[in-house]
Amino acid sequence: MKVFKLYSEFDSYLNKIRENKTVAFVPTMGSLHQAHLDLVEEASKVYDIVVCSIFVNPRQFNNVVDFKNYPRDIDKDIRILQNTRCAILYLPKESELYNSEEIELFDLNKLDNYMEGEYRPGHFQGVVNVIDRFFALIHPEAAFFGQKDIQQLIIIKYFSS
Ligand code: PAF
Repeated sequence: MKVFKLYSEFDSYLNKIRENKTVAFVPTMGSLHQAHLDLVEEASKVYDIVVCSIFVNPRQFNNVVDFKNYPRDIDKDIRILQNTRCAILYLPKESELYNSEEIELFDLNKLDNYMEGEYRPGHFQGVVNVIDRFFALIHPEAAFFGQKDIQQLIIIKYFSS
C-alpha cells in the first residue's frame, strides 16, 4: 500500500497506475475498525484499485472540543490498512482539500433538517463539502460508505445522484 500526504504525488501515482482500471474510494476519519475493512474488501471485489483516505474533517464538527478530542492514531490505522486490499492511502492536509474558509451550501433537499441534523446544524453540509472535494480530486468510479449512519448515507446518495 502506498501512502501519500501530498495531493500532487498521490495524483501522479494514481494516474500512472490507473490507465484502464476502475477506482473505488473509501473515505474515513480514521480509528479504523472491522466495518471499514469490510468496505475495503467489498470495494476490492468489484473495482481494480481501492483508494482510502483518512481525514478528520473539521467542517462536520459542530463543536471544536469534539473535533480536538476525536481519536487519531495514524500509525495504527496504516498498520491495519496494510493488511487489506487498499492500494493507496491518501492523508490530506486541510489546506489541500479546501482552498477557502467558506463552506459551500449544497441542496440536500432538506434531508439534513431532520433527525441528527436537528441537533447538529451544518454537520451534513460539512460531510458533503468534504465528499465533494474528494470526488473532485480522485474521480472514483464508486465510493463506499458505512451503513450505520443511515441519514448520512441517504444524504450522500442524494447529493451524488
Ligand atoms: O462517516 C465518516 O466517517 C465521515 O462522515 C466521512 C464520510 C468519512 C466524511 O468525513
